[in-house]
Amino acid sequence: MVYRPRYTGLIERYRDHLPVNDDTRLISLGEGNTPLLKLNNIPRLTGKNVDIYIKYEGLNPTGSFKDRGMTMAVTKAVEEGSKAIICASTGNTSAAAAAYAARAGISAFVLIPDGKIALGKLAQAMMHGATVIQIKGNFDKGMQLVKEVAEHTPVTIVNSINPYRLQGQKTAAFEIVEELSCAPDFHCLPVGNAGNISAHWMGYSEYYQDGIVATRPKMLGYQAAGSAPFMRGGMVDEPETVATAIRIGHPQSWDKAWKVKEESQGWFDECTDEEILAAQKLLAEKEGIFCEPASATSLAGALRDIQTGKIPEGSKVVCTLTGHGLKDPDIAIKQSSSPVVTVSATLESVRDAILDNMAK
Ligand code: F0G
Repeated sequence: MVYRPRYTGLIERYRDHLPVNDDTRLISLGEGNTPLLKLNNIPRLTGKNVDIYIKYEGLNPTGSFKDRGMTMAVTKAVEEGSKAIICASTGNTSAAAAAYAARAGISAFVLIPDGKIALGKLAQAMMHGATVIQIKGNFDKGMQLVKEVAEHTPVTIVNSINPYRLQGQKTAAFEIVEELSCAPDFHCLPVGNAGNISAHWMGYSEYYQDGIVATRPKMLGYQAAGSAPFMRGGMVDEPETVATAIRIGHPQSWDKAWKVKEESQGWFDECTDEEILAAQKLLAEKEGIFCEPASATSLAGALRDIQTGKIPEGSKVVCTLTGHGLKDPDIAIKQSSSPVVTVSATLESVRDAILDNMAK
């Protein structure tokens, strides 16, 4: 039998590039090492010659890219003696914080916007034993409260303003470079707080500076049209979008993200809710890949820029799908057009249902 070492998470894998030492107790759930899938059917529909790869971050342990940052943030919090972590969240950060706190044996407090997080994410925070504090306000208000409360309470903030978060998240860029044996020409991401786009740029830049790659991608950040401060050139006070994960009007990594755009010669753009949901559905129906609405913003934006030629033919494009589709079953069921037929439990009715739908 061929022996393959057990994969034990991204800190172990990228130890040399992360701020840990030999004695650090690693808090891991085996995050990272996610698939980089080449799209087969969607590029054909565009009629353009482009290679589109999907970095499927929904396959992390809690179903989103947040696990990459959370393994680092919680590892360091525990190392520094913290007994409790806190975050504001549109859902995924709270799910990851709750899970990694459980793994570490410490407490988690999560502030979420009342009624505005997807059901799967709420279920995760609750199951992992976090104290869920629903606020009658949006993410931006929650973030402000978390910063204030942490000044008076012995809790460690694990939002992406915690520098260890971005350190963990940069490893996604390492994985992409290693699999492609080069950097892509374009890397497309959904943007909320803009932590992830900044983390990816950090990762690409480290490999570039180490001489591992000769180029870096243009970073393309796509926002939901109702929550697009980078397009408006200033903060948005009442952000709205069906993509609740990126319903953010006051991004925490504002300066960092503008720097990424400048340095990488990339751009920001916005997608309507309709475009986002159409891309989510296209991925599910044409490629068998299920992501949550916010995640599909990266592909929605990329497809538009491929169509207009802003992303030229012959390009190698990576789109990050940040979270799994199962996070938000309500939206999925609402917009699915797949037939669900109810019939009597007889051979004849089941056969008829098959034959009726075969032609469609
Ligand atoms: N996609 C998903 C699925 C997210 O959950 C988030 C952020 C983003 C994209 C945007 O990433 O903020 O680094 O630009 N979710 C945070 C949360 C805000 O609380 O889960 P970003």
